[in-house]
Amino acid sequence: MPVWSDQPRPDPEACRESDEGLFEVTVRDGRARLGKLYTKHGVLETPALLPVINPNIRTIEPREMWDRYGIGALITNSYIIWKHDKLKEIATTNGVHELLNYPGVIMTDSGTFQSYVYGDVEVGVEEIVEFQRSIGVDIATMLDVFSRPDMKHSEVSAAVEETLERSQLSVDTAQDTMLNGPIQGGLFPDLRKKSAMEMSKFDFSIHPIGGIVPIMEQQRYREYAKIMLSTLPFLPSNRPVHMFGCGHPMLFPMSIALGADLFDSAAYALFARDGRILTPWGTEKLEGLIEWPIIMPCISSHTPEEVRKMDKDDRMKLLSKYNLEITLAELSRCRQAVRDGDIWRLVEQRSHQHPALRDAFLWLTTNPATAKYIKLNHDDIPLDEITSSQDFSNQGGWESGWNWILDAQLTPRKGGEQWAGSDTFSRPHITAARNLLFDRWHPRKSTEIGSDSVLIFYGQSGPWRDRCDAVVAKILQYVPGLEIMINTPIGLVPYSLEDLNPFCHIEGPDWLWKNKLDMAKIAQELDNFGLAGKAIIPVDLRKDNFETLVFEKMNKFESSVKAELVDGQIKILDEELFKQGHLKLNRLKAADKFSVLFNINHEVAQEMSHSMQFVVNKYGRIKNVLSSSGQHLASFRLGDGGLSLNNSGAIELFARRRKQLPKTFSQTSIAPYAGEGLAVVVVDDDAEPFIRKGRNVFHGFVLACDPWLRPGEACLICDKAGNLLGHGVSVSTVEDLASMKKGVAIKTRDGIKEDA
Ligand code: GUN
Repeated sequence: MPVWSDQPRPDPEACRESDEGLFEVTVRDGRARLGKLYTKHGVLETPALLPVINPNIRTIEPREMWDRYGIGALITNSYIIWKHDKLKEIATTNGVHELLNYPGVIMTDSGTFQSYVYGDVEVGVEEIVEFQRSIGVDIATMLDVFSRPDMKHSEVSAAVEETLERSQLSVDTAQDTMLNGPIQGGLFPDLRKKSAMEMSKFDFSIHPIGGIVPIMEQQRYREYAKIMLSTLPFLPSNRPVHMFGCGHPMLFPMSIALGADLFDSAAYALFARDGRILTPWGTEKLEGLIEWPIIMPCISSHTPEEVRKMDKDDRMKLLSKYNLEITLAELSRCRQAVRDGDIWRLVEQRSHQHPALRDAFLWLTTNPATAKYIKLNHDDIPLDEITSSQDFSNQGGWESGWNWILDAQLTPRKGGEQWAGSDTFSRPHITAARNLLFDRWHPRKSTEIGSDSVLIFYGQSGPWRDRCDAVVAKILQYVPGLEIMINTPIGLVPYSLEDLNPFCHIEGPDWLWKNKLDMAKIAQELDNFGLAGKAIIPVDLRKDNFETLVFEKMNKFESSVKAELVDGQIKILDEELFKQGHLKLNRLKAADKFSVLFNINHEVAQEMSHSMQFVVNKYGRIKNVLSSSGQHLASFRLGDGGLSLNNSGAIELFARRRKQLPKTFSQTSIAPYAGEGLAVVVVDDDAEPFIRKGRNVFHGFVLACDPWLRPGEACLICDKAGNLLGHGVSVSTVEDLASMKKGVAIKTRDGIKEDA
């Protein structure tokens, strides 16, 4: 299928009646999601841009938007249609699709924006929704009350209240027409949160974020981000989020990464009227251009000079198309980035292109109020600036929003982490990976020799196992209590997790690794790991004789008196002891992976590891973990350092669960539940035979789940009587499981037969 085509496109097919109004998530990258919205006029793929059509001035024909650009939905204003007798008559007689000559999804706005611009509108709350329903729109909008950023708390509060008061009548009037329930709240996080929580209680299909146009016009993007963080965590995730009036491509990556699904834009036409061009990095003027900033199909055979000389109307039409093409291309880029798991990298790249975006990005990713652990290596923003970012208002609300972003990050993932300067260190999935270690990994409770010290390998990139495994096995033989860590550009990682992504595979210049150890940062890191106060034994891996170094440093421990150095290598005095050192290392690797990746209590994991057996490949790397009786519990994934659960492992871990099964979906949060085991998902009895056969769990069949369930993480599936039916990997957040009605919820890895 071509992206844009000169051929007419067939009209859309209506979705199944039972699916109408449902929203399904098909791909996710953190809170960014690709989805499908089911309507009578086709299935709309999101994130989507709904171009604004002024029914009086049709700069680009809606039919061309459908045929040429494949635009699946547009938005027009029902108040304008209602006010103009001619438009009203056609719409009432033939429907809005005929009026606009457009076969796809039509959303209409209600007149709220006109009320904001002109002070008032003549239409009633019930009347405008009834009108939208009567002309056959797919998605109508209630008459909400616009909250401006310059309003006082009491004024905004009144706007929120009035919108709430109008909601039930609007929902009742809309009947089976899908209805937008806009969220107001101005710049006040407490009011945004309240609006989100209260509006969620009504039967709306979509929640637009309202009142943001002046904020975008004033380029207050930090505030825009704060509004998203104080609103989206409190909306049901089965309802798409629409950024009302947001159509500048510059804002797409950040908005999508923070959870936006829909955008609407009059910008493509408005900017064209002023001879301006929208680009992903801002706005440019046609005046003075010698060459195009981006070459797009509609403009490719014209020079800027030729376009300047065009007749006003033709120029506006052509620039509108050009703006629309650039806008759509940026949206495609964002969708692909979500598929590639790269949306935050795009946000990062785009943030460099506009000062206000950069400010918003740094505020999001480095603000200590929103981050649990002090960030490493971020030195391009003064601390007092980010800590004093209270201009928004002094009432909290957005702080937890960043955890909401972090808790949905997928980690570990495959492939290298491309270094791109200090921003790399605050990518949300890296922060999430670090937080998982800090929350779930624990030092061994050891009184053995060496337990007062930490050995830190540094100076060289991974993989470390080929070079260091044998040395570590020898160290563990002589100094069994020693903790061993590796210093990576994104922080310390326990040696036992040396193949864990993203720590093990950072693509960047060599000097990233060769930096000297920064002892202040190391102390902070050790504190995060619960290793504060331990003596630090640094070992520089760049040294050819690094084993000699280890030997010399080990010598301070009494237990090492027998150790000998031969040809720069620590002599193996006793093969059996050396083998035991290797086994100890393998057990440590398994125990720590079970703790960090399956959320098993570290003491339980260590105890389990004592009876584990290991199948290793020809390089000695663990492939499979077996129980003492040879049952296959789990496999080490070589691609990302993850762990894949097997049936025997699922049965064993389920048997160890002492906590009651979840009965509901509670407020999600991961950190307080470290060590509570694999999250359990309880499904409806109807799903049982399918899960036992290994089929996926679908939304609508999940009754409850543990609050620490994370997308991308393994989970157990059972029925409400407590029978284990299978295990899988969640593709959902807790909020998704609580609200979604369509699509895959859990990818089942295997079902468990009744007699297993
Ligand atoms: N268009 C832009 N902002 C808004 C808003 O807050 N409410 C409505 N209904 N439409 C808008």
